[in-house]
Amino acid sequence: MHWAKTFQTARFTLAVSGIKGLSLAELGATLDDLALDGVTGYGHPQLRSALAAKSGVSDDRIVLATGTSGANHLAFETLLDSGDEVAMERPGYEPMEMLASHLGATVRYFPRRPENGFRVDPKDVAASVTSRTRLIVVSNLHNPTSVATDEPTLREIGTIAERVGAKVLVDEAYLDAAFESAPPSAGRLGDVFVVTTSLTKVFGLSGLRCGWIVAAPALASKIWQLKNLFGVNEAHPAGCLALRALRTSGEILARTREILEANRAAWEAFHAGRQDLVLEGDSRGTTVFPRVVSCDADALCEHLRERYETSLVPGRFFGAPAYVRVGLCGDPEIFREGLVRLGSALSDLNGKGSA
Ligand SMILES: Cc1ncc(COP(=O)(O)O)c(C=O)c1O
Repeated sequence: MHWAKTFQTARFTLAVSGIKGLSLAELGATLDDLALDGVTGYGHPQLRSALAAKSGVSDDRIVLATGTSGANHLAFETLLDSGDEVAMERPGYEPMEMLASHLGATVRYFPRRPENGFRVDPKDVAASVTSRTRLIVVSNLHNPTSVATDEPTLREIGTIAERVGAKVLVDEAYLDAAFESAPPSAGRLGDVFVVTTSLTKVFGLSGLRCGWIVAAPALASKIWQLKNLFGVNEAHPAGCLALRALRTSGEILARTREILEANRAAWEAFHAGRQDLVLEGDSRGTTVFPRVVSCDADALCEHLRERYETSLVPGRFFGAPAYVRVGLCGDPEIFREGLVRLGSALSDLNGKGSA
């Protein structure tokens, strides 16, 4: 995260995983949409209902949080004690591993294997749990590959968790980026699942910090009680804007689709002509995760940034050092120029230090 805050920025960034930020004008918001204060208590009531409707569950299953990060923190802390075990995917999103360690839990990894298109294999999950496992963590879509986990696989993971008395936390920060081909939200598949998500990535609304958790009602109340120690109430004006975004979600998601389709087409045209970047997963979301076969992936990221003002995320941050993550979320013109520069950086380095 420190790297993301300090090194990710570049003139031509291919490093971000969230859609280019929406402006107030694009949101169609006016001052009349805002109020500085309002009833928040256990969440702005209309916002909580709108999030419940979006997630396909009742209001008592929703806990509001500060982004998906805040949602993950609240859920992890409610479900884990020091000495517990957490089973986590690898490659995976590093801050979740660090969060588990921060809470005194031991992380055991299950692989998402490139030869299996980075799909989750329930046999690997089963091999990573013990009687001390309290949480199994999956991102859907997967960060960094954007590979989806389908409903039968989620249900199998749920059964594995139930056998050892654990929960399955599904981080769905990117799920909406699969549009009509998205698997169902795990929050509708049973009480063994806990879902965390936000409007950050796919809506392009990181600034609102509108995140939420979907959990069984009793667990949701427990999480609200923990949250009372941290933040008490939400930022009401941000809640008003989030509500507006949910009411106009059709337009916002159409914008997201347009950006992703333009950038995916540019990526596919670029990738078709290259032997030095190998794609192993069927990605549907905001990022792709190619393996760099002609040079060292870290050296590529460094050279690209220093010589070409362009950034990628090194795969080492996900536990996969031979890879790089390319975000398809930025302004299409900037994205296309970033790809040209990536091509030049690869040509400079090809054959130097094969990974
Ligand atoms: C899997 C995953 N979860 C959570 C987050 C953080 O989301 P937010 O900005 O909504 O806190 C990220 C950000 O990159 C992510 O990749």
